[in-house]
Parts: sequence; C-alpha cells; structure tokens
Amino acid sequence: MRFFIDTADVAEIADLAASGLVDGVTTNPSLVAKTGRNFLEVVREICELVPGPVSAEVTAVHYEGMLAEGRKLAKLAPNVCVKLPLTWDGLKACKALSSEGTQVNVTLCFSAGQALLAAKAGATFVSPFVGRLDDIGHEGMQLISDIVEIFRNYPDTIRTEVLVASVRTPNHVIEAARLGAHVATLPPKVLRDLVQHPLTDKGLAAFLKDWEKTGQRIL
Ligand code: E4P
Repeated sequence: MRFFIDTADVAEIADLAASGLVDGVTTNPSLVAKTGRNFLEVVREICELVPGPVSAEVTAVHYEGMLAEGRKLAKLAPNVCVKLPLTWDGLKACKALSSEGTQVNVTLCFSAGQALLAAKAGATFVSPFVGRLDDIGHEGMQLISDIVEIFRNYPDTIRTEVLVASVRTPNHVIEAARLGAHVATLPPKVLRDLVQHPLTDKGLAAFLKDWEKTGQRIL
C-alpha cells in the first residue's frame, strides 16, 4: 500500500519525506488556506520534495474553468496530479485531462456509484472520504470495501486506484490496507501515530537498561 501525506505544509512534508516512507502528497484548498502561502509556489515546492503524485485541486466549478486551471496546474511539474471534485463538470474535465495524459484525482467521493463514474472518466485515483462519512454516522470503511470489490470485478477496464482520504486514525489505515485499497492519504499526525506502541517503548527502555549494565559500546 502506498502512503500519501495529506497536508500543504512544506516543512512537514520535507521532514516526513526524509523517512523514505512518503509516496505522494494530497492537498486541498482548505489545507492550502492554512499555510497562508501562494498556492502555485507551494505546489512547486512540494513537487520537488516528493517524486510521487502531488494532488493540486482546481477551484473552478464549471468544465471550461476546471480544464484551464487543470492544464495550468499540470504544467507546474511532471508529478502534479490534478484534483477535481466529483461533480458532472468534474467528471467531464477528468475525461478531458486524463485523455491528455494528465494524472487526475477525483475527490469528494461518498458513494460507490460516484467511484464507478470516476473510473469511467479515466481517473488515476478516486478519493472516498472515510472520516467525513463516519462523522455523519455512516460506515466509511464499508464504502472502501464496496469500491475495492467493484473495481476488482473489472481488472481489464478499470485502472483507477482507490485513494482512501479523510483518514483520522491509524485504524483507518490498517483497515484500508486489509481491504486492499491501493493508497491512503494520511494527515502527518496519523503517520507519526502509526509507529507508536507502548510495548515498543517499554521493551526498548528495558533493553537499554540491561545494555548499560554490560558497560559496552558498539561504536
Ligand atoms: C484528501 O485528498 C482530502 O482532501 C482530505 O483527506 C480530506 O480530509 P478531511 O475530511 O479530514 O478534511
């Protein structure tokens, strides 16, 4: 499973990318607004830090505007993945941009039917939002299970990857991997939380205490 980082914070991305565990980045207008920085500059900088896909979202809501913005974003770097909302115009723009060879991430997916349409429109990724579904009392992971199952039924025609978004906890990531989702985009805190286990900390402290008693050094 590939891990993308869900943030527009360049310093945070640089820090996490140094681990070698980051396969891509997703941003959205809300994440960009949090930085207070110029969107195009931020996208350029992220694309230099991470070789994998960097999702940059259009803000136009009509087809022509989405197409124009998408083409401009795609020119920023070869690893830009244009993010389009799952609307009728977004799907049309997805079809057009993907036909031109641009990577597209169709975002704000909340149903399996929407995911099927994104796949038919040639999306590179479709982003179902698990956390926001959980927030309204639905089962976000059931949507991932449904989409993965449906896509697997059409291995010859559906190439779209399931990008699990709106991830809130390490359990979301584990469950998404169990279900066979291709990618999860993780807020930095969730990636850091994945490494934590109290027994790891306790075990390490005990090993180091015993090692001290030997009076030895490796270096
Ligand atoms: C990623 O592509 C999405 O924009 C993001 O995961 C949304 O997460 P949120 O529901 O926590 O805002």
